[in-house]
Amino acid sequence: MTITTHQTTPYAGQKPGTSGLRKKVRVFAQPGYAENFIQAVFDVVERAPGSTLVIGGDGRYHNRTVIQQAIRMAAANGYGQVLVGQGGILSTPAASNVIRRYKASGGLILSASHNPGGPDEDFGIKYNIANGGPAPEGVTESIYARTQTIDRWLAVDADDIDLDTCGSVDVGGCQVSVIDPVADYADLMETLFDFAAIRAAVADGLTMAFDAMHAVTGPYATEILEKRLGFAPGTVRHGVPLEDFGGHHPDPNMVHAKALFDTMFGPDAPDFGAASDGDGDRNLIVGKGRFITPSDSLAMLAANAHLAPGYARGLAGIARSMPTSAAADRVAEALGIPAYETPTGWKFFGNLLDAGMATICGEESAGTGSDHVREKDGLWAVLLWLNILAVRKISVDELAREHWAKYGRNYYARHDYEGLPTEQADALIAALNGKLASLPGQSFGPLTVAAADSFSYLDPVDGSTSANQGLRVLFEGGSRIVFRLSGTGTEGATLRVYLERYEPADGYLDRETSDMLADLIAAADAVAGIVAHTGRTAPDVIT
Ligand code: G6P
Ligand code: ZN
Repeated sequence: MTITTHQTTPYAGQKPGTSGLRKKVRVFAQPGYAENFIQAVFDVVERAPGSTLVIGGDGRYHNRTVIQQAIRMAAANGYGQVLVGQGGILSTPAASNVIRRYKASGGLILSASHNPGGPDEDFGIKYNIANGGPAPEGVTESIYARTQTIDRWLAVDADDIDLDTCGSVDVGGCQVSVIDPVADYADLMETLFDFAAIRAAVADGLTMAFDAMHAVTGPYATEILEKRLGFAPGTVRHGVPLEDFGGHHPDPNMVHAKALFDTMFGPDAPDFGAASDGDGDRNLIVGKGRFITPSDSLAMLAANAHLAPGYARGLAGIARSMPTSAAADRVAEALGIPAYETPTGWKFFGNLLDAGMATICGEESAGTGSDHVREKDGLWAVLLWLNILAVRKISVDELAREHWAKYGRNYYARHDYEGLPTEQADALIAALNGKLASLPGQSFGPLTVAAADSFSYLDPVDGSTSANQGLRVLFEGGSRIVFRLSGTGTEGATLRVYLERYEPADGYLDRETSDMLADLIAAADAVAGIVAHTGRTAPDVIT
């Protein structure tokens, strides 16, 4: 088959962010835009001739177009085999599993995660390496450097393949196999969790609602929750993946998963509520009348993980991103295992997991996962919760109260200011950065600053350093505010303000979060001049 060399010139701005390259569909649809980026990946990543590439996405608009082109390009670039999910579908954790299981050299995941989809919305491409995890910074920097000099991309002259039928076809000497996106993943979950115990609890009356948000987890949740675990048909809501997610943001939080919240706080609430995002790596956990923050979920899962067969031997360590609350650290301390604090971004957990230093990881941004793959995993978190509830015969609310009574409670919220002009956001961060050194000793209402710094991470495995990962203001008594700019947006800048207050086990354990954080919210504005810099008097989203 003929390989055609397509001449091209670089596009500016193809720098991967927290989680791959994310842009509007209309940016990606420019001639050669996706091709330049994919070719840059193929040009720089480690792979032996004839190696295997995994391709899949969250089913959003533009997925199929890019997948067909990526297959032609993979064939022209010497891959021996391509594994692609049926319909172009692979959740991010499932893709991570396929990469590991079939010893692929890496994978392209086409997703903009929880961002909306459709012709005027978002698209993204992320490269994952052979361990199944997001490419580390060294790799994404090489990819970016290559996009700035790229002058050609390669593709075989071949027709589109049938993405909807499982089976193998030859594309220019490369074997392209369309695989069932769900089977391997569901089998992996059965090895980790006590499905029999969950089935027994379901037979005993345990009920749940899972909102797939018309995104990728629909087929996975239907197979696992309804077919394998026996939850009633209809347990999975919005289970059919749609290219525009039904016009909604597939972001499992109080704003975008409001319907689920209303159910869980309503009179007919089932025992357990959960949701996942566009590409299936995030999770939302909500019990009957009780929301569990992602930071608390990490701590509660870690404290009870030994009840699941996959973790019965205990945990090697717990890792969390810096802005995630310190609730998990207290569990690590009680278990006598190390706690790690990494920058925002799942890629920073990869080395710790590969080295066997951490078993469970989590982020405040609704990501939880373990060493079973190298991505965060929405359904994994849901199943671990179900496993724990089934074995302990306890409700979400009871478990949360018991946890806080033992470890104390880290009240926590994140305030997001979205769509800010980049200069405004940069100016706010620069000004705050400039006065960090002068903050210790200063008081804001009842709060006195104990320390303030810009977070820098030294990776204990490979010795690399990642600086400027967020500004931290730590107060006497353990409260904390973190300021950082999101690395996943596609328009303007998003300022994230993370607020945390610790209440010891004998303190106030069941108050309203907003009341408990009121002093910190006022201090955040006083310290950073949010209103003065942005003109915004309230956040757009509180999670
Ligand atoms: C993605 C990444 C996460 C990260 C989150 C928020 O979901 O996979 O690791 O925590 O984005 O990132 P941001 O830079 O927008 O705060
Ligand atoms: Zn996601």
